[in-house]
Amino acid sequence: MQQRLSLSRAARLVGVARGTLQQMIQTGELRSFDGMVSLGDLMELFPTARLESDIGFERVTKIRDEAFGKRLRERLLPSQEILAQRLFEQSRELVDLRAHLQRYHAMVVRLRERLQEQEVHAAGGAPAAAAQELGAILDRELEAVLGGSDVPNPLAVMDDMLRVMSAHVVIHPSRHEFFVDGADTILDAALRSGLAVNYGCSNGNCGLCKARVVSGQVQKVRHQDYVLSEAEKRQGYTLLCSNTAVGDLVIEALESTLPSDIPEQQIVARVKAVQALGDDLKLLHLQTPRTNRLRFLAGQNLTLTAGAASAPLPIASCPCDDRNLQFHVLRDAQDGFAQRVFDGLKSGDAVTLFGPWGDFVLRADSARSIIFIACDTGFAPVKSLLEHAMALELSEQLYLYWLATPPTGHYLANLCRSWADALDNFTYVPVAAEHGDALELMRDIGAGHPELNGFDIYVAGPEAFVNTATATLLEQGFPQTQLTAAIV
Ligand code: FES
Repeated sequence: MQQRLSLSRAARLVGVARGTLQQMIQTGELRSFDGMVSLGDLMELFPTARLESDIGFERVTKIRDEAFGKRLRERLLPSQEILAQRLFEQSRELVDLRAHLQRYHAMVVRLRERLQEQEVHAAGGAPAAAAQELGAILDRELEAVLGGSDVPNPLAVMDDMLRVMSAHVVIHPSRHEFFVDGADTILDAALRSGLAVNYGCSNGNCGLCKARVVSGQVQKVRHQDYVLSEAEKRQGYTLLCSNTAVGDLVIEALESTLPSDIPEQQIVARVKAVQALGDDLKLLHLQTPRTNRLRFLAGQNLTLTAGAASAPLPIASCPCDDRNLQFHVLRDAQDGFAQRVFDGLKSGDAVTLFGPWGDFVLRADSARSIIFIACDTGFAPVKSLLEHAMALELSEQLYLYWLATPPTGHYLANLCRSWADALDNFTYVPVAAEHGDALELMRDIGAGHPELNGFDIYVAGPEAFVNTATATLLEQGFPQTQLTAAIV
């Protein structure tokens, strides 16, 4: 039987996004065996595949790394101990395999000897002819196997290498998959892959990231103060924030899908940077303490307080990097917090975060393609959702329509274009206000997508825009249950 791989591992091997393989399965180009694909089929479809060398894969990886603010060198190699353990495990597999082969070889030799005896003892009769025929088949097959000079399947070789470099993890009961690279903990790797596993302190203190190891081996890479009970240890429980995966792993863990699953938090973060995105717009980059990170779902809001000034703002970054939080702050003479961002806030200053709140979040259970419609800084929560969708490697088509009312309103147009260049399933449509208002935009979207009711639609922007856009959609019979909106 052909060696089979999970979609995640196969995608890594041939250097494409998992969504690309999912699409190939849907169109019948690639066969699927219970969610697995065969190495032989992969080689036929990607004959020149080389590990992580595909331009598209590199681009997507770069986007993800930039979006998550993770330095590449932190992810290059696992620690020496983990590498040694993975090599030890592979050596053990090889020894087992060799012993198996030797047993089979001995069995074949015994079989050949028995057949020769049959040929001698039953000379001249029908049994002798049958024994001779079987013996000849066996000789031919043995010659082919022992004398064969087959080039090993390069994907199988790369798969072995991949197993040393990273561990594959499956979460039950969701069946979500991800890889643990470098020196990452299992929690960090799960978050980076866009999965909302349960956690609290991310520092080995609270026990909220407790998960049960169903199969595989973990190793502690960070100190933990939380003490697992003897019963928990016997049942295989471990802390995801303090351990990494030695090899391929199956765990049972809780995941959040609804805003109500996320607890309210209050955290004092520090300003990492304040950067101009235009004359009247700043990018505020905050960083939480390493030991007190913010748990949130993409698209949610926080209340930010600096000194006596507070403001509610949507988070413009992905939960995959829960320490580095971005906000798009518009100049507003009536908004004390915005004034502080424009006039006084500098690197290192404290900003208190309270939240998260809001239900402008991705529908976890939907397999529909998505249309995001943003107006002005309504792009902020949409950016968070898009980065989250990329982390999850959604295979569905993603469209972004961004209406800008000021002439310089597409303040991160280059970022959107780079996403469109890198991702086959992402389309960016910038719309300037002089070319049409909200009503015209909705008409254009309807005309461009005759099957609009097959999409999920997310709308974010100023109140008047959101009201017009949602009312237009509902009047056209668009299902309310597939429509999510946020006023920014
Ligand atoms: S998140 Fe608190 S112990 Fe892991």
